[in-house]
Amino acid sequence: MSTLPTNNPFESLRGEFNRWAEAGRGEGMEHEHLPITLPVLEKMRLGRTDNVLDVGCGAGWLSRRLAKLVPEGRVIGMDISDEMVRRARRASLDDDNLLFVVGEAAEIPWEANFFSHATSVESAYYWPDPAAGLKEIYRVLREGGAAWILINYYRDNPYCQQWGPLLPVATHLLSADEWSELFRGAGFGNVAHERIADPSPTPEVYAGKWFRDAAQLRAFKSEGALLVCGTKTVAGTPPELNLRIL
Ligand SMILES: C[S@@+](CC[C@H](N)C(=O)[O-])C[C@H]1O[C@@H](n2cnc3c(N)ncnc32)[C@H](O)[C@@H]1O
Repeated sequence: MSTLPTNNPFESLRGEFNRWAEAGRGEGMEHEHLPITLPVLEKMRLGRTDNVLDVGCGAGWLSRRLAKLVPEGRVIGMDISDEMVRRARRASLDDDNLLFVVGEAAEIPWEANFFSHATSVESAYYWPDPAAGLKEIYRVLREGGAAWILINYYRDNPYCQQWGPLLPVATHLLSADEWSELFRGAGFGNVAHERIADPSPTPEVYAGKWFRDAAQLRAFKSEGALLVCGTKTVAGTPPELNLRIL
């Protein structure tokens, strides 16, 4: 269901991403984001009984992968776009440890201390209040749980800066250090960040609107996405032990 443009940032986001969903872009993003997400899934070191939150899950492709990796745990995919969630549910009827909910990062409709892992792919720079979103993720993680935020739009990558004016909704162009500071401000310990290069082949000719040409797209992919992670540390426990809890 489409919505009209509005000054309310949450309604603007919902309207914009409902339009993306209706255009089939939710499903299409799997192809674009999988090459940078696979290394993150390895780093998350998921166990069969883990509970995982996927914030800004879109059409649910990553949530479905996560559900297969935690067959005795639960996966919750959450998105501000009700149309994305509707499509994610429709494509996931066979996964009985997977649930999709409509929700906003700064107000996650779930109990505290439930998840062992939270992840979010290509969503966090859209959140109207990223600091509040990270605090909410911290709240719903259990002690020792970890958050993994992956974004392609960040200040340190010179080849994505042109996206801002092209996007019809407000975004945050922050540096790796600024994201790390938001993690610490939300309470996370063991905060770290790294680049995840996109190894997929780049076509000889690029005709889309996001990059000047194929050379710029290639440079963007080799610069890599930004992965920021942190742990909900157990009070009084040294950082090395907190990492082992995972
Ligand atoms: C670029 S899409 C990425 C979707 C999915 N993670 C993927 O990789 O295919 C961004 C998603 O984040 C969602 N989103 C944006 N702001 C949000 C917010 N504040 N709370 C929850 N979801 C949000 C959008 O509705 C959209 O589905």
